[in-house]
Amino acid sequence: MAATRSEKDLFIQVYKRFPEPIDHGEGIYLFDQKGRKYLDFLSGIAVNALGYNHPAVLQAVEKQLKRNLHLSNYFVQDVQLELAESLLNLTPYSKLFLSNSGTEAIEGLIKLVRKWGLQRGKRKIIAFEGGFHGRTLGAVSITGQSKYRESFQPLLPDIEFIPFNDVNALNNALDENVAGVFFEGITGEGGIVPISDAMLKALKQGKEKYDFLIITDEIQTGVGRTGYFYYYETFPFSPDAIATAKGLGGGLPLAAFCVKEEIADVFSPGEHGTTYGGNPLACAAGLATVREVSQPAFLAHVRDTGAYLMQRLKEIIDLYPDLCLDVRGSGLMCGLDVARNGSEIMHAAFHKGLIFNIAGGGKTLRFLPPLIIGKENVDEAMDILLPLLKTFR
Ligand SMILES: Cc1ncc(COP(=O)(O)O)c(C=O)c1O
Repeated sequence: MAATRSEKDLFIQVYKRFPEPIDHGEGIYLFDQKGRKYLDFLSGIAVNALGYNHPAVLQAVEKQLKRNLHLSNYFVQDVQLELAESLLNLTPYSKLFLSNSGTEAIEGLIKLVRKWGLQRGKRKIIAFEGGFHGRTLGAVSITGQSKYRESFQPLLPDIEFIPFNDVNALNNALDENVAGVFFEGITGEGGIVPISDAMLKALKQGKEKYDFLIITDEIQTGVGRTGYFYYYETFPFSPDAIATAKGLGGGLPLAAFCVKEEIADVFSPGEHGTTYGGNPLACAAGLATVREVSQPAFLAHVRDTGAYLMQRLKEIIDLYPDLCLDVRGSGLMCGLDVARNGSEIMHAAFHKGLIFNIAGGGKTLRFLPPLIIGKENVDEAMDILLPLLKTFR
């Protein structure tokens, strides 16, 4: 039976939703309740890496559905083990912890950094202005955007924010008291800004001098999104730990934090835990997704299609230089800066059948299509976007 009350009536109003309720998805398309078709360049905010109804994910979920939906972490579960092993085999990490959402993975890592730091007399955590790590109080405490923080003071103490990619500021902030540095390899919410090589070098040198943990938030950049299974693969070092979520669950809520051998035993039994984390249905979907996405040919496809998307966006800048200012990203995580608030453009595109959203405080159009799109779908998106941008010049 359809609900009789509206979304505004029923929900605490924290989301700005698109105007048309969506009915279902097929491949890389969404269909609203009136049957209209949309090309989805948002994929559930970088979640639906394989689009909708991917056969590998469906089969895995159907198989697990018949076994159990939930057991609790009191039991060893083969599907959790398989997922963990696949993920760890792809990375330099030796152990992981499964949770439900990105913010929970970040919470676990903040606790880990705090405990590791306390054991060494180190209290400070460094994070970056413009960064985003989630909505729980710990994650908000290391999120460098005042709009997410100001109403919720006091937040966690001993956190210092420095401007992203400001090497001098980083060097000034680093000392013996630093326990950990948290950052995104490419800011998602913050506007698709990649960390600079100079910053990565400074982090590496700083760690050698002061011994702190480097934590990379791969929640949006991970699971193939940038054309690498994890974006840190492009760094001159691998972080001590990563947080991963979004694409990991293939559409179901799943996250993890993965840690190197040296910090794999920081927590004692009982110090951390979750009821749902590592839910078997989510792990089954996640395992199928990881297997597909981690294929070298799949990742090469993401890089290739991503390069084409980037090229087409650059052409737009050449065509409309007063409106479209800059394009950044890697793989199928791309941002196009516009000289006005992007929200009107986003809504106009929605009405023309193309879905994306905005980041960077509204000035960046953010494109996060399913990783299975082809170049012809990039063209399809550009055929909608180009005439529309003309009207916004
Ligand atoms: C980089 C990054 N970190 C953390 C989060 C929080 O993840 P979740 O919404 O699953 O809690 C997000 C979500 O957008 C994100 O993009």
